[in-house]
Amino acid sequence: APRVRIPHLQQMKERGEKWAMLTAYDMYTAAIFEDAGIPVLLIGDSASNNVFGNDSLLPVTVDELMPLVRAVSRCTRRPLVIADLPFGSYQASPEQCFHTAVRFMKEGGAHAVKLEGGIEMVPQVRKLVSCGIPVMAHIGFTPQSEHQLGGFRVQGRGEDGARLIEEARALEAAGAFAVLMEMVPGAVAAQITAALKIPTVGIGAGSDCDAQVLVWQDMAGLRTGKLPRFVKQYADMHGLLQKAAREFAEEVGAGTFPGPEHTF
Ligand code: KIV
Ligand code: NA
Repeated sequence: APRVRIPHLQQMKERGEKWAMLTAYDMYTAAIFEDAGIPVLLIGDSASNNVFGNDSLLPVTVDELMPLVRAVSRCTRRPLVIADLPFGSYQASPEQCFHTAVRFMKEGGAHAVKLEGGIEMVPQVRKLVSCGIPVMAHIGFTPQSEHQLGGFRVQGRGEDGARLIEEARALEAAGAFAVLMEMVPGAVAAQITAALKIPTVGIGAGSDCDAQVLVWQDMAGLRTGKLPRFVKQYADMHGLLQKAAREFAEEVGAGTFPGPEHTF
């Protein structure tokens, strides 16, 4: 199948076909998700927590994300590969944003980038788009601003809903190819999805968005403990891997692995 490109996502919106997006940070997961037909893969700055073991998104750097972007783009042929711009790598100016995005495309092989923010990011979005770099905008709860926002909480409730709609419209007008909405009331996300010509991607934003995204370790049940309400676990990867590791250790302990068939 040919590479998924932005016009395909646009056509899916026009046909009312919903699509799924997942994060991916390495070769095997990216290849598996491609085989499963996932059209868009995101190397999220959520790698900060889910790969590098930080307890927030803030510490992860462009240099840390770069090899993950390269791995995903190298081993996939069909999905659109989006690199997430990490905290501090684009907010200062459109020029800073441009240089970071170019690195992810030239060194990482990404096809597009994602950045967090509303009206204040319009100059960044315009700059990238004018240089041929497709941008997905991320609004609503924007985790890189967790300290400013006062923690993980739903955005766009009540009167803030109108502001969110204005932000989405401004980002579309600036040239964003899609708007991702995180932790937004379903009714507001539905209104934005109806108002925009470009696709919307939801996470904790109800079922009316044009697409849905989840962090793969959440979706596959690798991460355990208290999960956000918007997560659905489609597998028990944690249990599966733990069982495999335990059995391996048991067999080594018992002397039953390696067997004759594994021995030269
Ligand atoms: O970094 C990430 O994984 C994201 C998704 C939650 C959309 O931004
Ligand atoms: Na992110």
